[in-house]
Amino acid sequence: MTREQSSPREDGAAQQHTPYLDALREYARRRPARLHVPGHKGGPGADAGLLDALGERALSMDIPALTYGVDLGDEPTPFEQAQRLAAGAWGARRAWFMMNGASQGNLAAGLALAHQGEEVVVQRNAHSSTVDSLVLSGLRPTFVAPELDRELGIAHCLTADALARALAATPGAAGAWVVSPTYFGAVADVASLAAVAHAHGVPLIVDEAWGAHMAFHEDLPTHALAAGADLVISSTHKIVGSLTQSAMLHLGHGATGLIDEDAVDRAVTLTESTSPSALLGGSLDAARRQAAVHGRELLARTIASLAHAREQIRAIDGLDVLDERLAGRPGVFAYDPLRLAVDVRGVRASGYDLAPLLREIDDINLELYGQNVLVAVFGMGERSLPEATRLVDALRTAVARVGLDPRGAHASFAAPPPWGELAMTPREAYLGAQEVVAAERAAGRIAAESLATYPPGIPNVLPGERLTAETLAYVQQTLELGGSVRGASDRLLRTVRVVIESRA
Ligand SMILES: Cc1ncc(COP(=O)(O)O)c(C=O)c1O
Repeated sequence: MTREQSSPREDGAAQQHTPYLDALREYARRRPARLHVPGHKGGPGADAGLLDALGERALSMDIPALTYGVDLGDEPTPFEQAQRLAAGAWGARRAWFMMNGASQGNLAAGLALAHQGEEVVVQRNAHSSTVDSLVLSGLRPTFVAPELDRELGIAHCLTADALARALAATPGAAGAWVVSPTYFGAVADVASLAAVAHAHGVPLIVDEAWGAHMAFHEDLPTHALAAGADLVISSTHKIVGSLTQSAMLHLGHGATGLIDEDAVDRAVTLTESTSPSALLGGSLDAARRQAAVHGRELLARTIASLAHAREQIRAIDGLDVLDERLAGRPGVFAYDPLRLAVDVRGVRASGYDLAPLLREIDDINLELYGQNVLVAVFGMGERSLPEATRLVDALRTAVARVGLDPRGAHASFAAPPPWGELAMTPREAYLGAQEVVAAERAAGRIAAESLATYPPGIPNVLPGERLTAETLAYVQQTLELGGSVRGASDRLLRTVRVVIESRA
């Protein structure tokens, strides 16, 4: 791959273009002899049902990598031009298109960091793809706890102080890796986190999967690249609206000397198929144009509609919403209003009960729900007002059906016990000899799998950590109270997968 560098904010005129999408359309228009994969041949070879569902236009642009005039031929190719425009739109030094989601971005980030050292400081409630990246890269993590909101039962972001302590305790760290915004819309003080990381001579990697839109409206919290992050994972499909599974990885302008750009490039190649989907790539090019050219206007409309919806939800007895009032709590620097998170503690039902009820009432399908909070996600260019109104109406009906909780906003939950000692790296535990043992005999053994109880979703156990009786009891108790555990091979935790330790 050739270098694709860009100055911050490519000029507006260039952002009107979609070179890669145009090249795909041109290829389809020419009706070329398709003596290459895929075998559906742009439509004629496809199953009739698929052809009917997707249409010939979509299939005709589903072409392989290394197609002349698309991503091969005179440079910069349309594909390279599209990545440059993306870098310009987000203010990155370089952008890579990911066809395997932000998950691929996390995998690539860990592999790139592993060129620079053997250890890394990681936010404890990072996405599972970050933990997978530790397995792939072999990096030894020092975990940092996010701030826990005991009242809402959710985890927020990392504070700069917590990061500074972890970096001081990990002098060999190759980087610091944090998440912002969270699922619930809490945004970290990325500028301070970057300053701390840089003071320790390491890059700041921000998993901004949920914040790709924040670069396009001045009323939104500052996005990670603008705040000084060095490598940013951006799940473009989530809110900006490219096709599902498409995402981007951005290198910051200040990253030179902190991150090896060639190592990132190779890690991207290693984690992607040799047949990346042209449709996903085309959708990234188009979503970038929409964000750069129309994002401000679309976001202004969505922000206003959601402010109105929040007011209406707060007016429903028993319900509240998360909003900018959250900013200033520990671990919350700012709030991203593109999430509509509803606090349901005042009604006589949990989020787990309300989500199916909303589906039944008006086919309302939420992004996420937990004990205390329901989360609806809004996109940059959607019909936000009608969708929000539908949610508000369904919530009103649901609350009328279940009634109010006579105790008012119910009690906060117990904080999880401290995680166990890291006896081996996640990679060693994942690849080591394993066995499944009864949960009551698992204390003292090294976990080969993750256990993350919801609420609040902070992993209690990660591969390589020694299981403690206290943690196992906590997980069991959360399950008994109606919570859930993710990552476990036995979701009822009757058994746990552990490492077989050699008795040397
Ligand atoms: C914080 C975070 N990072 C990464 C990902 C992975 O994103 P993708 O689904 O695009 O692979 C997610 C997915 O929800 C996420 O929440």
